[in-house]
Amino acid sequence: MNIAYLSPLPLGGVECLPKERLAALLEEARGRTLALVAPLCEEQIDRQYSPIMSPLAWDLGHIAAFADLWLARAGGSEPVRPDLFEVYDATETPRSRRGDLPFLRCEDALAYGREILERALALLEEVDVSAEGDRLNARALVWNMLIEHEHQHSETMIQAMQLAGEDIPSPASEAAGGAGVPAAAGTGPRMVLVEGGPALLGAGIEGFAYDNERPQHAVEVASFEIDLITVTNGDYLAWIEEGGYHRREWWSERGWAWREREGAERPLFWTADGRDRRFDRTEPLDPDLPVTHVSAHEAEAFARAHGKRLPTEAEWEKAATWDPGAGRKRRFPWGENQPDAERANLDLSAGGPEPAAARPDGASAYGVLGMTGDVWEWTAGEFIGYPGFEPFPYREYSEIFFGTGMRVLRGGSWATRPTIRPTFRNWDLPERRQLFVGFRCVRDV
Ligand code: AVJ
Ligand code: FE
Repeated sequence: MNIAYLSPLPLGGVECLPKERLAALLEEARGRTLALVAPLCEEQIDRQYSPIMSPLAWDLGHIAAFADLWLARAGGSEPVRPDLFEVYDATETPRSRRGDLPFLRCEDALAYGREILERALALLEEVDVSAEGDRLNARALVWNMLIEHEHQHSETMIQAMQLAGEDIPSPASEAAGGAGVPAAAGTGPRMVLVEGGPALLGAGIEGFAYDNERPQHAVEVASFEIDLITVTNGDYLAWIEEGGYHRREWWSERGWAWREREGAERPLFWTADGRDRRFDRTEPLDPDLPVTHVSAHEAEAFARAHGKRLPTEAEWEKAATWDPGAGRKRRFPWGENQPDAERANLDLSAGGPEPAAARPDGASAYGVLGMTGDVWEWTAGEFIGYPGFEPFPYREYSEIFFGTGMRVLRGGSWATRPTIRPTFRNWDLPERRQLFVGFRCVRDV
């Protein structure tokens, strides 16, 4: 499967996509969601496999209900199914209880989705998405939000599919499976120096970004060294063999309490006999692949054992986007152009994580690799608002999670849609391991 990425933003930083592109992106997002569930039977779609994830049918209905609500707001009309909004309100029902809700089952959820997509396409023709439009439509804010919301839920659904155990095959099973790319021979120096100095944190005004990425602000960052690639299975296995999970001194208090409670001995999908499960296949560990499905606690214990730590958000974003030669921030690690297959492992194109040096054209100005796609990366940052944060367009996207102990992840994974940008702040509890997540370390100099 060789996916030509649909570029979510125009090249060159024009403020807003034309309506035809927005319409194409809405349809494409829907098509990709449908492709995820197409190979599954209704029972697999309706079932809740894990208490930390929703049934796939809940996501299908939630995507439609979210669009139904925002289309009504943006169009000044009545929603189609306001009776369903409570069932699909993520803040009212924790994932653990979603299996018991009267959510629409497979066929009904798909029908609701079709109806709402048609409504979206019709409304889009009528509204003003120029800078002069009303606050929800100006610069296509709601429209970008609907596209990115569906993109985010598509990755959530892939996480749920991985958690389902061997019952569900890989959504990218016809793809290369991550094995097509040879490990880079001799990766050279494993860390690079990032000289202290200024950086810009957060998204500028060029295109769509969530409220939590704004306002963009200048920060001073002290010199540090950062791993050129994410920590590999091989590195991680060596640490386990040194007693990583049993040496209390390497763990934070909270991390150790988690380790004991969980009985954790290895990453979530590793087997005791040294294999790794990905969807319905369990294969020998590949030492060159990034380690994945570890909690922030495990990442921090590994880092401490090596005299290192996790990057702050500012360090991560500086290493990913700052161009020290030009003294300015890039939109992506490699420059201004949208992600493509030469530069980033996104969108199921490789079927899984890759040896991190696999796409050298994706390097940042500092030469740091794999900062867009491949695996999400844990940072040391707690999810809080930037100075001057203003919730928009709704408090429940970001603000209600500030200060609740959520940890920020950056970069996107092999399963993330290509609307990802380096300023995007994902978050989850530090003990969570269902994300397609790995990590890299930094060291003070
Ligand atoms: C940014 C992935 C943490 O799934 O809770 C989806 C994204 N917000 N619907 C989440 C989101 C509303 C969010 N994460
Ligand atoms: Fe949602």
